[in-house]
Amino acid sequence: MRRFSAEYLTRTRDGMWEDSTAALSALSLGDRDRILDVGCGTGELTQTLSVEATAQQTTPPLVVGVDADRSLLDVAQRQTDGQYVQGDAFRLPFATDSFDLVVCQALLINLPDPQVAVEEFARVSSDLVAAIEPNNAQVGVTSTVREEAELEQTVRDAFLRGVETDVALGDTVQTLFEQVGLRNRSTTRYHHKKRIEPPYSAAALADAKAKATGSGLQKHDIEIKSGLAGSEPNMGYDTLRSKWRSMGRDVIDQMQTEEYRRVELVPFDVTVGKVP
Ligand SMILES: C[S@@+](CC[C@H](N)C(=O)[O-])C[C@H]1O[C@@H](n2cnc3c(N)ncnc32)[C@H](O)[C@@H]1O
Repeated sequence: MRRFSAEYLTRTRDGMWEDSTAALSALSLGDRDRILDVGCGTGELTQTLSVEATAQQTTPPLVVGVDADRSLLDVAQRQTDGQYVQGDAFRLPFATDSFDLVVCQALLINLPDPQVAVEEFARVSSDLVAAIEPNNAQVGVTSTVREEAELEQTVRDAFLRGVETDVALGDTVQTLFEQVGLRNRSTTRYHHKKRIEPPYSAAALADAKAKATGSGLQKHDIEIKSGLAGSEPNMGYDTLRSKWRSMGRDVIDQMQTEEYRRVELVPFDVTVGKVP
């Protein structure tokens, strides 16, 4: 199982659901009594679902988060007031029809066989199944450091080629939903906008340092090396790493004079289907 740190999840989900009412409208949160968030991590979406559904109803619904990683659930339990249970997305520890909405975010892109998980969601839900999955092939970056967007694209392309699961799933989740027999399928796109500008947060400073030292690249070096091997034109990993670190030093230089600005747009597709 691919593991994530609580720090990574909390940082990358920061501000993600600022516009949640419109973005999550397909989930009909005002009509839900029992909601399950599968692969909930540190509970960022679980909390948003709870706040949104409670705001739209007179009686607050039951909202439960389930994840295989106990350490993330401990963080979720500390920072939100939801209910959390340890469990496997392929064999959920709940009876058939226990919930009227089963949803996940950025889970299917990390699974070797996402269809089996969607089948399990359909077993546990009596009504709706939803998946909010990014399309990492369509991430857009603009930056005041000239080489940053292009180098990030090179790294992203190599990672996409080298990683074993489909991290660009996005709206192709609809095909999985169709194969599982879910009806009335629909997808809407939501963009998570991540902005770095002065005053720089501690996380932005840490990101810049990770670029300049190459430590960020190193975390995914197996996938990137494997993806680079098939790329055209062929850039070796050492060359890429050296360009990457030089770009990171430029980011730090611009931060020192408060010139640095970066915007990243990550498309998330919200796909919904009805259990027949
Ligand atoms: C990218 S994180 C997404 C977390 C959260 N949904 C979010 O978007 O902030 C993927 C999560 O899926 C969990 N996960 C991976 N495989 C799983 C499995 N087979 N069963 C349950 N959880 C799993 C990981 O522990 C991690 O918390």
